[in-house]
Amino acid sequence: MAPEQTRGKVVATPGHDGQRLERVRLYRSQGVNGRIVHGDALLFLRSLDDGIADIVFLDPPFNLGKKYSDSNPSLDRRPDDEYAEWLFAVLNESARVIAPGGALYLYHLPKWAMRAGTQLETAGLRFHQWIAVMMKNGFVRGQRLYPANYALLLFTKGKPKRFERPRFPAPRCRHCGKYTKDYGGYRPIIDRQGVNLSDFWEDLSPVRHPSRKHRGANELPKMLFDRVVAISGAPDALYVDPFAGSGTGALCALSADLRFAVCDLVRANCEIIQSRLDHLISSRRGKCPSTRTRSHGSGSSSRCSPATSRSKAASWT
Ligand SMILES: C[S@@+](CC[C@H](N)C(=O)[O-])C[C@H]1O[C@@H](n2cnc3c(N)ncnc32)[C@H](O)[C@@H]1O
Repeated sequence: MAPEQTRGKVVATPGHDGQRLERVRLYRSQGVNGRIVHGDALLFLRSLDDGIADIVFLDPPFNLGKKYSDSNPSLDRRPDDEYAEWLFAVLNESARVIAPGGALYLYHLPKWAMRAGTQLETAGLRFHQWIAVMMKNGFVRGQRLYPANYALLLFTKGKPKRFERPRFPAPRCRHCGKYTKDYGGYRPIIDRQGVNLSDFWEDLSPVRHPSRKHRGANELPKMLFDRVVAISGAPDALYVDPFAGSGTGALCALSADLRFAVCDLVRANCEIIQSRLDHLISSRRGKCPSTRTRSHGSGSSSRCSPATSRSKAASWT
């Protein structure tokens, strides 16, 4: 189905079954450039220009029978063929909106990551890495081992425009405080620079505790998004997240001065995202002396709102 010809402008767009996109919040001031959209991910992606996104982050429903929508309770319980067709349509649209050199991340079960990888190559993207994320929140099902890893696929459109390999402090024993590994002669370097991030992330925990959760389920930890942004992001890059959930991806993007465009099918999730973003924005303003000055009517520049952000602001709206 042909989308309305308003690519780059997220407006109320007629779609499947009469669905529309609703713009919940547009941020466009003091160095913040982003939007929250309520609606279907495919419609949202179709409303974006070709090659506009620097990072597309996909954490779609896994077809495990979760109830995401009152109007369509079987949305996440489809026959495999039907789910594959939908997922591949999302991947194709995502591949289209990624800029040359941009990055696509897909978080999924290995079963679907495998098929998705083939589809992404068909859509013209280049395999970069399969990151195994250890996440012990599954259940043993059928004749299988206990599932403890999810796939975080990284594909790029051609040669990556940006690729940073983060370093982090080497893991230490909780009891004695010593390194858990013997780094031999490299120890002085490890002391100074930490260790390279590998493609096996075993240090993330599911967001389980009610005090940290922003909604019922399926929330990915902040550290995962921080890493995605650190690896592939740069100030002013556009982060796109069509299944934004609690919006942690948008928050991490904003914290690193990226622009963001995020969407969720559930209105309540969009409201959670808005409230979290508003809170972050006001706390950033509170802390930023130059913005404080500006809000009192004087001063024209700010360390918190680089000129590049403002100049690009009009180019994708
Ligand atoms: C696995 S969760 C994503 C969680 C998110 N990464 C986080 O950290 O909070 C999937 C999200 O996609 C949303 N969703 C389900 N179907 C959708 C669709 N067709 N279009 C847009 N969002 C959808 C759900 O409401 C849910 O918030």
